[in-house]
Amino acid sequence: MASPGFWSLGGDNTGANTGSQSPSTPRAWCQAAAQKLSGGIGSKLCALLNVGEVEKAADPAAKQPPQPTAGTCGCNKSCNCTKAEVGFSDLYSTDLLPAMDGDTKTMTFLQEVVDILMAYIVESFDRETKVIDFHYPNELLQLNNWELQDEPATLDDILISCRATLKYAIKTAHPRYFNQLSTGLDMVGLAADWLTSTANTNMFTYEVAPVFVLLEYVTLKKMREIIGWQDGRGDGIFSPGGAISNMYAMLLARFKMFPEVKEKGMSSVPRLVAFTSEHSHFSIKKGAAALGIGTESVICIKADECGKMIPADLERRILEAKQKGFVPFFVSATAGTTVYGAFDPLIAISDVCKKYNVWMHVDGAWGGSLLMSRRHRWKLDGVERQDWANSVTWNPHKMMSVPLQCSALLVREEGLMQNCNQMHACYLFQQDKHYDLSYDTGDKALQCGRHVDIFKLWLMWRAKGTIGFEAQIDKCLELSEYLYNKIKDREGYEMVFDGKPQHTNVCFWYLPPGIRYMEDKEERKKHLHKVAPVIKARMMEYGTTMVGYQPQGDKVNFFRMVISNPAATFEDIDFLIEEIERLGHDL
Ligand SMILES: Cc1ncc(COP(=O)(O)O)c(C=O)c1O
Repeated sequence: MASPGFWSLGGDNTGANTGSQSPSTPRAWCQAAAQKLSGGIGSKLCALLNVGEVEKAADPAAKQPPQPTAGTCGCNKSCNCTKAEVGFSDLYSTDLLPAMDGDTKTMTFLQEVVDILMAYIVESFDRETKVIDFHYPNELLQLNNWELQDEPATLDDILISCRATLKYAIKTAHPRYFNQLSTGLDMVGLAADWLTSTANTNMFTYEVAPVFVLLEYVTLKKMREIIGWQDGRGDGIFSPGGAISNMYAMLLARFKMFPEVKEKGMSSVPRLVAFTSEHSHFSIKKGAAALGIGTESVICIKADECGKMIPADLERRILEAKQKGFVPFFVSATAGTTVYGAFDPLIAISDVCKKYNVWMHVDGAWGGSLLMSRRHRWKLDGVERQDWANSVTWNPHKMMSVPLQCSALLVREEGLMQNCNQMHACYLFQQDKHYDLSYDTGDKALQCGRHVDIFKLWLMWRAKGTIGFEAQIDKCLELSEYLYNKIKDREGYEMVFDGKPQHTNVCFWYLPPGIRYMEDKEERKKHLHKVAPVIKARMMEYGTTMVGYQPQGDKVNFFRMVISNPAATFEDIDFLIEEIERLGHDL
């Protein structure tokens, strides 16, 4: 449950700020009441007083979806469509295909769904609309009946459920949504996702996904060529996300060194240790936990002020581990760290890995896409090394705005994945099939069934060309540089680390006037820690924008601005600054 305290700073962070300058609102009062009173009485009281809705209507950012104006069918214009003849309140899912004569009803129903989606898409790009119509969980539970029933719902109810779900969804395509590394909505990517769902197949064999398997083959090869591996040779797979791609890499590294682990398990191998920087993604530790290696066997290497791994510390820790009798088997360098956007020095790290014969993985989940930019790809120099960069994670669902999910693991050695993961299930991977069995790629995956993630990326790539992706990535980096230049010397801002960010991550503190000149450093730090969460809570209440924050090491909560949404513009960056100041000046 969300805490009501974060609407304002307050002494113990639980009270509402009622100052006249404060953006605290009646809605906030109702929210606090709703949380305190049991049985939803608070929320009902708010609903009775109509507080939330009145306030939303008064808020210029709150815009209602376009209402149909003509036609009994609900279309926005005069038309001859069949909608008017189909009454969804009397129909059920069993009336749709494959029901006899279900084609017209199905078409009309799906058209209605497309209309709902279209209205949502158009709204999502409209800066006058909210990024989010935020409600606390208890409120949202009470606003709609989400319970599953024994009896079927009418198609009318189903359409209402679609509308309600989108009403409260985050508009991730909104040009002012900066909260996550995955933002934006690409129209061709969306079309590809619809096609993928319509085809509704599985990636494990060529016989059930002939085109998709070939597209995966072609695209992975292209990605390896872009990495710089000779003739695009190697292997790879699309996985359910960067965390899983990273775990695959760790699994392969272990198998490469100790193939017996596949049959005999961890008791057959010595104590293994992995290395990654203190700024790396938590998925490295998760992978170690899941693979039975253990989080204590992941050694965190020091990073410099800008968040880059220090290779000398890596070498020192490898030697230290060896002296203890442990076996270093895996180094994960990060190309684009999650918070600072730092690129570890891959050349120096690969020298160390080669010297000690340790698998080098590059976690480019966030920064891998910069390989597509002639202006920025130098940040990953070393990733192409034939002699030492064994695997790369690259998430097109982050910086390239491919709809979730789309993450690739690229591996330099051919055949290793197959050997590591294959189980030869003879009901799927029959050896006497009538086509080239190398296209039955499913046995190299950890999964059995695998979602088709490739088509969105492939179709977007066709639509934009490599130069289109390059332009999109360069633009996001330009926007972040603009933000950095705008705030680095602006009154009330402090950068978390010195120098121009390498990725689109811009990390900064906003200091409200009240604490700018506070003498007591400890007191100032304590106060500053609470500023970003309160501004963020206010952003969500107003729904005007969203940006992430976090502490890091001994640094108190700061904003981490990231830009991956191609819809964002310089004006949106200006807006973000103004909004932070509007929402935070009284704190
Ligand atoms: C550097 C890095 N690696 C891995 C991941 C995990 O990726 P996913 O969310 O696709 O699992 C992230 C996610 O933010 C990341 O920033």
